Amino acid sequence: MSEKKVKIGIIGGSALDDVEILEGRKEIYRVTPYGSPSDVLIEGRINGVDCILLARHGRRHSISPSNVNYRANIWALKDIGCTHILASTLCGSLQEELKPGDIVIVDGFIDRTTKRIQTYYDGNENSPVGVCHIPMEPAFCHRTREVLIETAMQQGIPVHDKGTVVAIEGPRFSSKAESLMFKQWGGDLVNMTTCPEVVLAKEAGLLYATIGLVTDYDCWRPNTENVCVEDVLETGKSNVDKILQLFTNAVTNIAQKDWTQTINDLQKTVHNAVMIPHD
Ligand code: ADE
Repeated sequence: MSEKKVKIGIIGGSALDDVEILEGRKEIYRVTPYGSPSDVLIEGRINGVDCILLARHGRRHSISPSNVNYRANIWALKDIGCTHILASTLCGSLQEELKPGDIVIVDGFIDRTTKRIQTYYDGNENSPVGVCHIPMEPAFCHRTREVLIETAMQQGIPVHDKGTVVAIEGPRFSSKAESLMFKQWGGDLVNMTTCPEVVLAKEAGLLYATIGLVTDYDCWRPNTENVCVEDVLETGKSNVDKILQLFTNAVTNIAQKDWTQTINDLQKTVHNAVMIPHD
């Protein structure tokens, strides 16, 4: 079996809306059967590896978490040939030891979103046929997460190698009672975008991993300023270089591995998850 060439989609969250990390960049406009992605796809290379950059909220940060067209974003990245997605997301911390400025290689989620379509198999005429019951363990690609963790070690960037994120609908932040409840549930982080992005990436057969940057302690921690936009963005911006260093070096490391079996295994999982209507 010939080795599958990788192409890596990078979804930039808040603070990474408009970063210049690609060589030979070219803007590509795409429309998908599910509508338009958040912005143009920016095609280019990192150390010779093909990459596609997409700003989750648009390059001007004009799209709220509920209004992001997650289906179009993931579809467009799949359609242009991506094999992997590396995503970034700013998060509140639900645990003492996860401090603002820390990076977490997320490995689980609790979905508290309410308004978002989570599947491509929606019964519409132009959609894939059937009903897809995609398994969600593992939700994130284990091998891609391992590369991120190894890369961080090589680069001397401290990271937490696991963490569960609670994805809320937003755009409001959580109440204190909610924040305390999420802690009790075993959540480590809280954000507004991991769901349904991770779910759709898996349905689309893409190897998806996300790095969470901790920006605040939400509002559960005594004697601590409650989360506010200004602090979130300030902490996000002051850590952009670290995230980009991790992403660019991870891209190089991903390209040095053979992903054929991992991609085939995921495609098999998706195939087996689809129930086709019978006569
Ligand atoms: N993104 C950054 N901080 C957050 C928080 N506390 N809640 C939800 N999303 C966030």
